[in-house]
Order: sequence, then structure tokens, then C-alpha cells
Amino acid sequence: MAVVIRKQESIEGAEAIRTFLQEKGLDYESFSTPEGISPLLGQKGLNDAEKEEVLSSLEYRFEDLKKKYGYKARDLVVLHDEVPGIDEVLAKFDKLHIHTDEEVRYIIDGSGIFGFIIGGEKFEVHVSKGDFLSIPANTNHWFTLDEKKRIKAVRYFKDNSGWVPVYVDESKVLVH
Ligand SMILES: [Fe+2]
Repeated sequence: MAVVIRKQESIEGAEAIRTFLQEKGLDYESFSTPEGISPLLGQKGLNDAEKEEVLSSLEYRFEDLKKKYGYKARDLVVLHDEVPGIDEVLAKFDKLHIHTDEEVRYIIDGSGIFGFIIGGEKFEVHVSKGDFLSIPANTNHWFTLDEKKRIKAVRYFKDNSGWVPVYVDESKVLVH
């Protein structure tokens, strides 16, 4: 379950988080833990066949999300401290950026931190297993792992071509 960290307060509970994030233009859902894939989720890393097995076991979720949001493709990102070049991978996304397509993540294992600057407010969404988050195109955000350095996240796409970070100068969008 996610936690939202604002300057003055934390927001907990799926409904309160959904309401807060909706006001910011983000879609958030808290899904129950998927069954039938737990042995693989317990592994730190997954090979391509194991990733496909996990994705196949989540096909029902993909079908639901296709109908609701119109996604066309999905893949699985597995990050942990032994991934070669993990710091370089994280360095691409831990600075404020936007995409020209939406960024959609369904966290199925581990945890991480999305940061945002929306409407001049900076806040963090600490995501973990079961959290689904859709960040619209052109939304100022960043992402990093927490101290556990481990996450498995399904990515859903309507269009693969928009998947390049466009960096944003924080001082131009943050209201102090
Ligand atoms: Fe991003």
C-alpha cells in the first residue's frame, strides 16, 4: 500500500491516496496481492522466461486495464542491487523529467519512490506491492528505489515511442 509524503503531512489509506492523487491528475489503484505467482516473486531476479511467466499469471489484470485505459502492451521491470549498472539505470530517472506518453506502473514486489512537482507542490508517493499508478504525459516526476533496492513493476503502454525522459529544471516549476 502506498504512502504519500507531503511537506506538512503523510496521507495513508487507499481511498485518501486515490482522492489526493486524482486531484493532482494521477490515477491510483490498490490491487489485492496476485495469487499463483508468489514463488517467483520471492526471487530477487527473474530471467526472461520467468518474467513472461509472471506476466502471464497477471493476464487477467492486463485484460481489465486494456478495457479501462486502452493499453496495448506490457512488460516487467525487475530492479535490484545486483543488476549490472543499476546506479546508471536509476540515474536516468531520479532527476525531474517528463515523458510524452503516460508512465504506468503496477508494483508487484518490492518498493520504490515516485516524486512529483504538480501545481507547484513537491510530494512523494512511496509505492509497494499492489500499487497501480498512472502518470499522465508531461507530468513532472522522478523515480528512485528506497534503501531496500528492490522492485518488480509491470509497465503498461499505449505507445512505446514516447519512452524517453525529457529533463525539467526544478527551479522553474517549484513554488517555494
Ligand atoms: Fe519517468
